[in-house]
Amino acid sequence: MDQFIINGGRKLKGTVEIGGSKNAALPILIATLLTDEKCVIKRVPKLRDINTTIKILEALGKKVTFENGTCTITKQTALKVKLPYDLVKQMRASFWVAGPLLARKKHAEIALPGGCAIGVRPVDIHLKGFKKLGAKVILNEGNIVLKAKKLAPTKIILSFPSVGATQNLLMCACLIKGKTVFENIAREPEVFDLINALKSMGAKICMDQQGRVIVEGVDKLKGMKHSVCADRIQTGTFLIAGAITGGEITVKNCVPEDNEILLEYLQEAGAKITTGKDWVKIKAPKTIKPVNIKTAPYPGFATDLQAPWLALMTLAKGNTEVSEDIFENRFMHAPELVRMGANIIIEKNVAKVTGVAKLTPATVMSSDLRGGAALVLAALAAKGQSCVERVYHIDRGYEEFEQKLTALGAKIKRYNPVQI
Ligand code: UD1
Repeated sequence: MDQFIINGGRKLKGTVEIGGSKNAALPILIATLLTDEKCVIKRVPKLRDINTTIKILEALGKKVTFENGTCTITKQTALKVKLPYDLVKQMRASFWVAGPLLARKKHAEIALPGGCAIGVRPVDIHLKGFKKLGAKVILNEGNIVLKAKKLAPTKIILSFPSVGATQNLLMCACLIKGKTVFENIAREPEVFDLINALKSMGAKICMDQQGRVIVEGVDKLKGMKHSVCADRIQTGTFLIAGAITGGEITVKNCVPEDNEILLEYLQEAGAKITTGKDWVKIKAPKTIKPVNIKTAPYPGFATDLQAPWLALMTLAKGNTEVSEDIFENRFMHAPELVRMGANIIIEKNVAKVTGVAKLTPATVMSSDLRGGAALVLAALAAKGQSCVERVYHIDRGYEEFEQKLTALGAKIKRYNPVQI
């Protein structure tokens, strides 16, 4: 298993370009199941989760080529309806194929996604929505079987603005004749990128003044050409990397408004932020000030940036509270940060941090994607040699992470210890 060997203590400086968003690319690739026509999707990041999605599309009857950041998807065979556990277990978002399959085939059989490192992660909100649209939901030998004689438009009020449920149900509604009205949907930029992609396939989707989303189903969707939006989580991670190492970084090809609350908090922490249309520059604070955060659905503080923020606050002068209000078990990086000299106590869903003057290098283990990135940031700040194990988690979401960090002056090498 790959490790990162990091010689920390260097201020990161320079410019980094942000690639396409993983969390937008995944549902947009899945949306190609809604048509037999050719789809061309640009700015797709080269990541493990994208490769898994390509395998999923192929297993369901698509032909996919992926070259130079462009995925071209065409029909290979008739659309299949079953997705086995070995693909679902690699990535929870596999379950998002339910919406398109149900819409087109009135039938989908998908292994029930299990728990994952950051909690139980149920799909009850998705299933409740499918039931309301007219599907029968049966659990059979670990598979969720969704079947419908006919799907009918309805009003769906999500009990929580789940990103995945919003995307799954929206995709389904695109092919249901009549008006399906959604309330309390997720408003993450990735959801709107999916909506734009669906619209370019011919879907009729609009939002009213109350923020309800109305989907007027069409008989058929056509192919699309779409370029995936910038990855705001990568953007945030690099900005925090600049702050934690005392550096000065310009992040290019991003959408500054997508990270508004983070930029505000970075300024409160003492960083100097300047922005342009598609770039953000950060000059690190001399002294990091403590800034409490609570994760929340967009436009609140992104749960995916909680771990990097926690890493930053370990070096703040004073006490900070980092509250995780989206996922139930998302502090696995905290004990690893403690191994690097951080002072963190977890009480329920709150990490109570007393800032320390410096972090010390150590061997630490990533146990999920964003937690792993946070450990890399901490190691970049800690003077001396650290080792971050289980890099495969980080590879799920950060394209060319070590190359980009190296270009900013970091000393980071990927290493694969010989397995005995
Ligand atoms: C997506 C993102 C993930 C991000 C998360 C929250 C992708 C591929 N992943 O995940 O990076 O951290 O949004 O911004 O886009 N929940 C239920 N029942 C459901 C669905 C969700 O209880 O049916 C709960 C989850 O357990 C979690 C919370 O709702 O506690 C948020 O989940 P959700 O917004 O659905 O996240 P994902 O779409 O899985």
